[in-house]
Amino acid sequence: MTKIINEEELPLAKSSLDHGNLVIFPTETVYGLGANALNYDAVNKIFLAKGRPSNNPLIVHLKDKSEINKYANITNEIEKILIDKFMPGPFTLILEKKDIIPNNVTCNMDTVGIRIPDNEIAHNLLSILDYPIAAPSANVSTKPSGTRVSDIFNEFNDKVDYIIDGGETTIGLESTVVKVINNIPTILRPGYITKEDIESIIGCCNVSEYVMREAHGKVESPGMLYKHYAPNTPCILVDSKKIIEESLKYDKCIIIGSSKNIDIKCLKYFNYGDSKPEIAHNIFKLLREADKIGGEVILIEAVDTDGLGLAIMNRLIRTCSYKYIKN
Ligand code: TXA
Ligand code: MG
Repeated sequence: MTKIINEEELPLAKSSLDHGNLVIFPTETVYGLGANALNYDAVNKIFLAKGRPSNNPLIVHLKDKSEINKYANITNEIEKILIDKFMPGPFTLILEKKDIIPNNVTCNMDTVGIRIPDNEIAHNLLSILDYPIAAPSANVSTKPSGTRVSDIFNEFNDKVDYIIDGGETTIGLESTVVKVINNIPTILRPGYITKEDIESIIGCCNVSEYVMREAHGKVESPGMLYKHYAPNTPCILVDSKKIIEESLKYDKCIIIGSSKNIDIKCLKYFNYGDSKPEIAHNIFKLLREADKIGGEVILIEAVDTDGLGLAIMNRLIRTCSYKYIKN
Protein backbone atom coordinates (compact mmCIF):
# COMPACT_ATOMS: atom_id res chain seq x y z
CA MET A 1 0.00 0.00 0.00
CA THR A 2 1.35 3.39 -0.98
CA LYS A 3 1.57 5.94 1.84
CA ILE A 4 0.95 9.66 1.43
CA ILE A 5 3.45 11.66 3.48
CA ASN A 6 4.19 15.35 4.00
CA GLU A 7 7.34 17.44 3.88
CA GLU A 8 8.26 16.66 7.51
CA GLU A 9 8.59 13.00 6.55
CA LEU A 10 11.26 13.35 3.83
CA PRO A 11 13.60 10.87 5.61
CA LEU A 12 11.04 8.13 4.81
CA ALA A 13 11.22 9.07 1.13
CA LYS A 14 15.02 9.10 1.30
CA SER A 15 15.18 5.61 2.75
CA SER A 16 12.85 4.30 0.06
CA LEU A 17 14.90 5.92 -2.72
CA ASP A 18 18.14 4.67 -1.08
CA HIS A 19 16.70 1.13 -1.37
CA GLY A 20 16.08 1.57 -5.10
CA ASN A 21 12.33 2.12 -4.84
CA LEU A 22 10.03 4.77 -6.33
CA VAL A 23 8.70 7.96 -4.69
CA ILE A 24 6.33 10.54 -6.16
CA PHE A 25 7.30 14.12 -5.29
CA PRO A 26 5.97 17.60 -6.12
CA THR A 27 7.72 20.12 -8.37
CA GLU A 28 6.54 23.56 -9.48
CA THR A 29 5.38 22.10 -12.82
CA VAL A 30 3.78 18.67 -12.21
CA TYR A 31 4.42 15.74 -9.83
CA GLY A 32 7.41 13.55 -10.69
CA LEU A 33 7.75 9.73 -10.46
CA GLY A 34 11.24 9.55 -9.03
CA ALA A 35 14.05 7.04 -8.59
CA ASN A 36 17.78 7.20 -7.84
CA ALA A 37 19.11 8.36 -11.23
CA LEU A 38 22.41 6.48 -10.71
CA ASN A 39 20.75 3.12 -9.98
CA TYR A 40 19.99 1.18 -13.20
CA ASP A 41 17.46 -1.19 -11.59
CA ALA A 42 15.61 1.61 -9.79
CA VAL A 43 15.33 3.53 -13.07
CA ASN A 44 13.90 0.44 -14.78
CA LYS A 45 11.08 0.44 -12.21
CA ILE A 46 9.98 3.88 -13.51
CA PHE A 47 9.45 2.52 -17.02
CA LEU A 48 7.47 -0.44 -15.62
CA ALA A 49 5.28 1.61 -13.26
CA LYS A 50 4.44 4.15 -15.94
CA GLY A 51 4.14 1.77 -18.88
CA ARG A 52 6.58 4.09 -20.61
CA PRO A 53 8.08 3.23 -24.03
CA SER A 54 11.68 2.14 -23.45
CA ASN A 55 13.05 4.71 -25.93
CA ASN A 56 11.64 7.81 -24.21
CA PRO A 57 14.41 9.26 -21.99
CA LEU A 58 13.98 10.65 -18.47
CA ILE A 59 14.90 14.04 -17.02
CA VAL A 60 17.55 14.12 -14.27
CA HIS A 61 16.69 16.46 -11.38
CA LEU A 62 19.49 18.15 -9.42
CA LYS A 63 19.51 20.22 -6.24
CA ASP A 64 21.53 23.12 -7.65
CA LYS A 65 23.66 24.38 -10.53
CA SER A 66 26.97 23.32 -8.98
CA GLU A 67 25.92 19.69 -9.56
CA ILE A 68 25.51 19.95 -13.34
CA ASN A 69 29.20 19.31 -14.12
CA LYS A 70 29.09 15.94 -12.35
CA TYR A 71 26.51 14.57 -14.78
CA ALA A 72 26.79 16.55 -18.02
CA ASN A 73 29.17 18.68 -20.10
CA ILE A 74 28.37 22.32 -20.78
CA THR A 75 29.89 22.82 -24.22
CA ASN A 76 29.05 26.39 -25.24
CA GLU A 77 28.30 29.93 -24.05
CA ILE A 78 24.58 29.74 -24.90
CA GLU A 79 24.10 26.76 -22.59
CA LYS A 80 25.89 28.70 -19.82
CA ILE A 81 23.58 31.69 -20.24
CA LEU A 82 20.43 29.53 -20.29
CA ILE A 83 21.52 27.80 -17.07
CA ASP A 84 22.35 31.11 -15.46
CA LYS A 85 19.05 32.71 -16.42
CA PHE A 86 16.45 29.93 -16.18
CA MET A 87 17.66 27.50 -13.51
CA PRO A 88 16.29 26.72 -10.99
CA GLY A 89 12.93 26.80 -12.73
CA PRO A 90 10.50 25.11 -15.11
CA PHE A 91 13.25 24.55 -17.64
CA THR A 92 15.07 21.41 -18.85
CA LEU A 93 18.31 21.70 -20.79
CA ILE A 94 19.52 18.84 -22.98
CA LEU A 95 23.29 18.52 -22.47
CA GLU A 96 26.06 16.10 -23.44
CA LYS A 97 25.81 13.20 -20.98
CA LYS A 98 28.60 11.96 -18.72
CA ASP A 99 29.15 8.20 -18.28
CA ILE A 100 28.00 8.22 -14.65
CA ILE A 101 24.36 8.45 -15.87
CA PRO A 102 23.12 4.91 -16.63
CA ASN A 103 22.08 4.30 -20.24
CA ASN A 104 18.48 3.47 -19.37
CA VAL A 105 17.94 7.03 -18.05
CA THR A 106 18.75 8.43 -21.48
CA CYS A 107 17.60 5.43 -23.54
CA ASN A 108 21.13 5.13 -24.98
CA MET A 109 21.18 8.73 -26.22
CA ASP A 110 24.45 10.62 -25.72
CA THR A 111 22.59 13.56 -24.17
CA VAL A 112 20.75 13.99 -20.87
CA GLY A 113 17.93 16.34 -19.83
CA ILE A 114 18.92 18.31 -16.73
CA ARG A 115 16.44 20.18 -14.55
CA ILE A 116 16.68 22.00 -11.21
CA PRO A 117 13.15 22.27 -9.79
CA ASP A 118 12.10 25.50 -8.11
CA ASN A 119 9.99 23.89 -5.41
CA GLU A 120 10.93 23.79 -1.75
CA ILE A 121 9.94 20.17 -1.12
CA ALA A 122 11.74 18.93 -4.25
CA HIS A 123 14.81 20.97 -3.29
CA ASN A 124 14.80 19.72 0.31
CA LEU A 125 14.45 16.13 -0.84
CA LEU A 126 17.29 16.45 -3.37
CA SER A 127 19.44 18.08 -0.67
CA ILE A 128 19.32 15.04 1.65
CA LEU A 129 20.18 12.56 -1.14
CA ASP A 130 23.62 11.50 -2.37
CA TYR A 131 22.38 11.19 -5.96
CA PRO A 132 20.07 13.00 -8.41
CA ILE A 133 16.49 11.90 -9.11
CA ALA A 134 15.42 10.63 -12.53
CA ALA A 135 11.74 11.41 -12.97
CA PRO A 136 9.11 11.64 -15.66
CA SER A 137 5.74 13.23 -14.96
CA ALA A 138 3.72 11.15 -12.49
CA ASN A 139 1.00 9.72 -14.68
CA VAL A 140 0.49 6.42 -16.41
CA SER A 141 1.73 6.76 -20.03
CA THR A 142 -0.83 8.47 -22.35
CA LYS A 143 -2.77 10.01 -19.39
CA PRO A 144 -2.76 13.69 -18.32
CA SER A 145 0.17 14.59 -16.05
CA GLY A 146 -0.50 14.63 -12.30
CA THR A 147 -0.92 18.03 -10.67
CA ARG A 148 -2.46 16.89 -7.36
CA VAL A 149 -2.17 13.74 -5.26
CA SER A 150 -5.84 12.75 -5.43
CA ASP A 151 -5.59 12.50 -9.23
CA ILE A 152 -2.69 10.07 -9.29
CA PHE A 153 -3.06 7.99 -6.13
CA ASN A 154 -5.02 5.21 -7.82
CA GLU A 155 -2.71 5.06 -10.83
CA PHE A 156 0.29 4.39 -8.61
CA ASN A 157 -1.12 2.71 -5.51
CA ASP A 158 1.21 -0.22 -4.64
CA LYS A 159 3.68 0.80 -7.37
CA VAL A 160 5.46 3.46 -5.28
CA ASP A 161 6.35 3.47 -1.57
CA TYR A 162 5.49 7.10 -0.87
CA ILE A 163 3.74 10.08 -2.40
CA ILE A 164 4.93 13.37 -0.91
CA ASP A 165 1.94 15.70 -0.84
CA GLY A 166 2.82 19.27 -1.74
CA GLY A 167 -0.69 20.39 -2.68
CA GLU A 168 -1.64 21.40 -6.20
CA THR A 169 1.41 22.20 -8.35
CA THR A 170 1.62 25.91 -9.20
CA ILE A 171 2.38 25.92 -12.93
CA GLY A 172 0.46 22.81 -13.96
CA LEU A 173 2.31 22.05 -17.25
CA GLU A 174 5.67 20.33 -17.59
CA SER A 175 8.96 22.19 -18.06
CA THR A 176 10.18 23.77 -21.28
CA VAL A 177 12.66 21.33 -22.89
CA VAL A 178 15.47 23.10 -24.77
CA LYS A 179 18.47 21.86 -26.72
CA VAL A 180 21.11 24.16 -28.19
CA ILE A 181 21.46 23.11 -31.85
CA ASN A 182 24.07 24.89 -34.03
CA ASN A 183 24.33 27.59 -31.35
CA ILE A 184 20.58 28.33 -31.40
CA PRO A 185 18.35 27.41 -28.44
CA THR A 186 15.64 25.11 -29.81
CA ILE A 187 12.43 24.35 -27.91
CA LEU A 188 11.64 20.64 -28.14
CA ARG A 189 8.69 20.91 -25.74
CA PRO A 190 7.18 24.32 -24.89
CA GLY A 191 6.44 25.21 -21.26
CA TYR A 192 6.17 28.10 -18.82
CA ILE A 193 9.51 29.57 -19.99
CA THR A 194 8.45 30.76 -23.43
CA LYS A 195 10.12 31.30 -26.81
CA GLU A 196 9.71 35.03 -26.13
CA ASP A 197 11.50 34.69 -22.74
CA ILE A 198 14.46 32.93 -24.40
CA GLU A 199 14.59 35.38 -27.32
CA SER A 200 14.75 38.30 -24.89
CA ILE A 201 17.93 36.84 -23.36
CA ILE A 202 19.69 35.18 -26.31
CA GLY A 203 18.24 37.13 -29.24
CA CYS A 204 16.96 34.03 -31.05
CA CYS A 205 15.08 30.83 -30.34
CA ASN A 206 13.80 28.10 -32.68
CA VAL A 207 10.80 25.91 -32.00
CA SER A 208 10.70 22.29 -33.15
CA GLU A 209 8.42 21.80 -36.14
CA TYR A 210 6.62 19.03 -34.22
CA VAL A 211 5.35 21.22 -31.39
CA MET A 212 1.94 21.59 -33.05
CA ARG A 213 1.87 18.50 -35.26
CA GLU A 214 2.39 14.78 -35.13
CA ALA A 215 5.94 13.45 -35.37
CA HIS A 216 7.12 10.24 -37.01
CA GLY A 217 10.47 8.48 -37.33
CA LYS A 218 13.68 9.98 -35.94
CA VAL A 219 13.13 13.14 -33.87
CA GLU A 220 15.24 15.22 -31.47
CA SER A 221 12.96 14.34 -28.55
CA PRO A 222 11.31 10.90 -28.49
CA GLY A 223 8.49 12.25 -26.28
CA MET A 224 7.08 13.86 -29.43
CA LEU A 225 6.25 10.48 -30.90
CA TYR A 226 3.74 9.18 -28.40
CA LYS A 227 0.10 9.56 -27.50
CA HIS A 228 -0.15 11.95 -24.54
CA TYR A 229 -2.36 13.76 -22.05
CA ALA A 230 -5.52 11.90 -23.15
CA PRO A 231 -8.60 11.05 -21.07
CA ASN A 232 -10.75 8.05 -22.12
CA THR A 233 -13.57 10.27 -23.40
CA PRO A 234 -12.85 11.51 -26.97
CA CYS A 235 -11.68 15.14 -26.99
CA ILE A 236 -11.89 17.81 -29.70
CA LEU A 237 -10.09 21.15 -29.70
CA VAL A 238 -12.40 23.92 -30.93
CA ASP A 239 -11.86 27.63 -31.61
CA SER A 240 -13.92 29.74 -29.23
CA LYS A 241 -16.43 30.98 -31.83
CA LYS A 242 -17.19 27.45 -33.10
CA ILE A 243 -18.03 25.89 -29.74
CA ILE A 244 -21.81 26.52 -29.78
CA GLU A 245 -22.17 25.09 -33.28
CA GLU A 246 -20.07 22.04 -32.41
CA SER A 247 -21.85 21.40 -29.09
CA LEU A 248 -25.22 21.06 -30.89
CA LYS A 249 -23.97 17.89 -32.61
CA TYR A 250 -23.91 15.89 -29.35
CA ASP A 251 -26.50 14.85 -26.75
CA LYS A 252 -23.96 14.45 -23.97
CA CYS A 253 -21.37 17.11 -24.57
CA ILE A 254 -18.88 18.30 -21.95
CA ILE A 255 -17.05 21.59 -22.46
CA ILE A 256 -13.81 22.87 -20.93
CA GLY A 257 -13.37 26.57 -21.69
CA SER A 258 -13.25 30.18 -20.55
CA SER A 259 -15.96 32.19 -18.84
CA LYS A 260 -17.09 33.72 -22.13
CA ASN A 261 -18.71 30.45 -23.23
CA ILE A 262 -20.04 29.46 -19.82
CA ASP A 263 -23.72 29.85 -20.79
CA ILE A 264 -23.60 27.26 -23.57
CA LYS A 265 -26.05 24.43 -22.83
CA CYS A 266 -24.24 21.13 -22.29
CA LEU A 267 -23.99 18.18 -19.91
CA LYS A 268 -21.30 19.97 -17.85
CA TYR A 269 -19.18 23.07 -18.34
CA PHE A 270 -15.74 23.31 -16.73
CA ASN A 271 -14.32 26.83 -16.56
CA TYR A 272 -10.53 26.67 -17.07
CA GLY A 273 -10.02 30.38 -16.31
CA ASP A 274 -9.41 33.44 -18.45
CA SER A 275 -5.64 33.91 -18.37
CA LYS A 276 -3.01 31.56 -19.76
CA PRO A 277 -1.34 30.91 -16.37
CA GLU A 278 -4.77 29.94 -14.96
CA ILE A 279 -5.49 27.66 -17.92
CA ALA A 280 -2.06 26.00 -17.58
CA HIS A 281 -2.65 25.52 -13.86
CA ASN A 282 -6.13 23.98 -14.29
CA ILE A 283 -6.09 22.03 -17.52
CA PHE A 284 -4.75 18.58 -16.51
CA LYS A 285 -6.92 18.50 -13.38
CA LEU A 286 -10.03 19.43 -15.40
CA LEU A 287 -9.33 16.84 -18.10
CA ARG A 288 -9.37 14.22 -15.36
CA GLU A 289 -12.56 15.66 -13.80
CA ALA A 290 -14.31 15.87 -17.16
CA ASP A 291 -13.44 12.24 -17.91
CA LYS A 292 -15.44 11.10 -14.86
CA ILE A 293 -18.74 12.59 -16.08
CA GLY A 294 -19.39 9.95 -18.74
CA GLY A 295 -19.99 12.29 -21.66
CA GLU A 296 -19.91 11.48 -25.36
CA VAL A 297 -17.25 14.05 -26.12
CA ILE A 298 -15.16 16.74 -24.40
CA LEU A 299 -14.90 19.98 -26.40
CA ILE A 300 -11.93 22.09 -25.34
CA GLU A 301 -11.68 25.79 -26.16
CA ALA A 302 -8.46 26.57 -28.05
CA VAL A 303 -6.19 29.52 -27.14
CA ASP A 304 -3.76 31.49 -29.33
CA THR A 305 -0.18 30.21 -29.45
CA ASP A 306 1.56 33.37 -28.22
CA GLY A 307 3.67 33.09 -25.04
CA LEU A 308 2.44 30.37 -22.70
CA GLY A 309 -0.34 29.64 -25.24
CA LEU A 310 2.11 27.51 -27.24
CA ALA A 311 2.63 25.13 -24.30
CA ILE A 312 -1.11 24.91 -23.63
CA MET A 313 -1.89 24.18 -27.28
CA ASN A 314 1.01 21.70 -27.59
CA ARG A 315 -0.61 19.60 -24.81
CA LEU A 316 -4.21 20.06 -25.98
CA ILE A 317 -3.57 19.16 -29.62
CA ARG A 318 -2.22 15.82 -28.35
CA THR A 319 -5.07 15.40 -25.84
CA CYS A 320 -7.36 15.71 -28.87
CA SER A 321 -5.30 13.37 -31.11
CA TYR A 322 -4.83 16.35 -33.47
CA LYS A 323 -8.61 16.88 -33.98
CA TYR A 324 -8.94 20.66 -34.14
CA ILE A 325 -11.96 22.61 -35.44
CA LYS A 326 -10.78 26.04 -36.49
CA ASN A 327 -12.65 29.24 -37.07
O1 TXA B 1 8.30 19.50 -15.62
C1 TXA B 1 8.79 18.45 -16.02
O2 TXA B 1 9.63 18.40 -16.94
C2 TXA B 1 8.35 17.14 -15.31
C3 TXA B 1 8.82 17.24 -13.85
C4 TXA B 1 8.53 15.97 -13.07
O3 TXA B 1 10.18 17.56 -13.80
N1 TXA B 1 8.92 15.99 -15.97
C5 TXA B 1 8.50 15.56 -17.19
O4 TXA B 1 9.11 14.42 -17.63
O5 TXA B 1 7.63 16.12 -17.83
P1 TXA B 1 8.58 13.54 -18.86
O6 TXA B 1 9.41 12.33 -18.81
O7 TXA B 1 7.13 13.37 -18.74
O8 TXA B 1 8.97 14.37 -20.12
C6 TXA B 1 10.33 14.52 -20.47
C7 TXA B 1 10.45 14.98 -21.90
C8 TXA B 1 10.06 13.90 -22.88
O9 TXA B 1 9.36 14.51 -23.96
C9 TXA B 1 11.41 13.35 -23.34
O10 TXA B 1 11.36 12.80 -24.63
C10 TXA B 1 12.28 14.60 -23.28
O11 TXA B 1 11.83 15.31 -22.15
N2 TXA B 1 13.71 14.27 -23.08
C11 TXA B 1 14.29 13.73 -21.99
N3 TXA B 1 15.61 13.52 -22.19
C12 TXA B 1 15.87 13.93 -23.45
C13 TXA B 1 17.05 13.95 -24.27
N4 TXA B 1 18.22 13.51 -23.82
N5 TXA B 1 16.93 14.45 -25.53
C14 TXA B 1 15.75 14.91 -25.98
N6 TXA B 1 14.60 14.91 -25.27
C15 TXA B 1 14.66 14.42 -24.02
MG1 MG C 1 5.11 13.17 -19.25
